[in-house]
Amino acid sequence: TGADVVINGSSSPAVVDRSNESIKHIKPASFRWRHNQTLSLKIRKQILKFLDAEKDISVLKGTLKPGDIIHYVFDRDSTMNVSQNLYELLPRTSPLKGKNFRTCAIVGNSGILLNSGCGREIDAHSFIIRCNLAPVQEYAWDVGMKTDLVTMNPSVIQRAFEDLVNETWREKLLQRLHNLNGSILWIPAFMAKGGKERVEWVNELILKHRINVRTAYPSLRLLHAVRGYWLTNKVHIKRPTTGLLMYTLATRFCNRIYLYGFWPFPRDQNQNPVKYHYYDSLKYGYTSQASPHTMPLEFKALKTLHQQGALKLTVGVCG
Ligand code: CTP
Repeated sequence: TGADVVINGSSSPAVVDRSNESIKHIKPASFRWRHNQTLSLKIRKQILKFLDAEKDISVLKGTLKPGDIIHYVFDRDSTMNVSQNLYELLPRTSPLKGKNFRTCAIVGNSGILLNSGCGREIDAHSFIIRCNLAPVQEYAWDVGMKTDLVTMNPSVIQRAFEDLVNETWREKLLQRLHNLNGSILWIPAFMAKGGKERVEWVNELILKHRINVRTAYPSLRLLHAVRGYWLTNKVHIKRPTTGLLMYTLATRFCNRIYLYGFWPFPRDQNQNPVKYHYYDSLKYGYTSQASPHTMPLEFKALKTLHQQGALKLTVGVCG
């Protein structure tokens, strides 16, 4: 298996442009990764000072009622009312209550996954997290098929499902939701005002078609808490990406964390082009201009944790 060889490629780092800065000095293929349990537990404890994944993963039914007013986390002046549908879909208890998994896979959406053959390895983990309803079926060999938790930024409805303009797109989304088959659908509904209608459409579809998913809507304090943790550790992120959020949450309930599809660079270590997403044609400029994310900075932090054995980052092919 590829268990020992994590970051493949030549032993001399081939770095040309500045966007690849943080992949400099990446460990050569002979670097043997070892899990550092002491460090993992220490990180879990530190993160618990800022947030509790068990609680912050979702607002619970008992804490809200229909009609309640919520101020958006990033647009404090804008508000939303808790709709009847949203209320119905709030979980009664945390979907992660008392959970503890031996190994977890967090699958990011980088094109680095293409031709990786990591599907089998990913599917072998005890708990599998994916981001933004990324498609799996057509890419199973590289990304696997199983999903235990999948995130959905409201913008995905616009970007990947054409804002449900017609029946074809509604069907496409419905199919994707049906395929989730009981897994957790994690929707950041209280972050930005732009997502209002999109969240409502999805909530409505889930109820109307009795889709078998366990919905979760992250707490209002989650993002700031995650940012706070990383800032304390001198990682100056503007707004944590979904991938980093998932890692931060996973430290609470996963003993070993394996990351795939994290590669926010347009070229791989051998200078071959890498797509921004493995499944669409979104371009890299998107991260620097429109997005408040600082993915390369996050990547650098994750790479350090990989080298220390707190997590395992796979950016090459799987064995
Ligand atoms: N990711 C990465 N390299 C890429 C693309 C994605 O490392 N080239 C990771 C990031 O951690 C990202 C996650 O995979 O958060 C999921 O990808 P995407 O759906 O693009 O993430 P978002 O952070 O949600 O981006 P956006 O806010 O623009 O929707």
